[in-house]
Amino acid sequence: MANGRAYLVLAAFASGIVLGPDVALAAGSAENGKVAFVKHGCWQCHGFEGQGSTETSAGRVLYDTKLPFEAFKAYVRDPSGAMPPFHAEILSDSDLADIYAYLQSLPKPKPASEIPLLKQ
Ligand code: HEC
Repeated sequence: MANGRAYLVLAAFASGIVLGPDVALAAGSAENGKVAFVKHGCWQCHGFEGQGSTETSAGRVLYDTKLPFEAFKAYVRDPSGAMPPFHAEILSDSDLADIYAYLQSLPKPKPASEIPLLKQ
């Protein structure tokens, strides 16, 4: 009996380590998202780092999207501008969650006030 309880505590402890602080962010995997972002061609218009594009088909900067995931998903499924729609048969919800996690994981540029060279 005492042994059983010890296992339970140990299991809870171990899963705490594995799932711990990343749980809230772990709806998608940034690593898989990077692959999906390339596979589904998002990069062609949005750049490999979600930095946007200067080509005529320019997609917006995505690395700092303010859209919450639900709005992000709704947009990709049914975009308003020049972007083609990506339906669930082509791009699954889980791939999309991964792409979102990837974009969230990208480093954001520093504000000009933090770049010494720009301080005069
Ligand atoms: C053929 C070019 C093209 C491709 C491919 C493309 N996009 Fe876009 N995307 C655009 C353009 C252009 C816009 C801006 C539309 C507008 O405002 O008129 C946009 C806008 C967006 C927005 C809205 C951003 C915001 O903050 O309003 C999201 C999100 C987005 N794209 C995600 C994706 C994802 C994810 C993929 C890959 C599955 C993808 N796009 C593939 C061209 C593209």
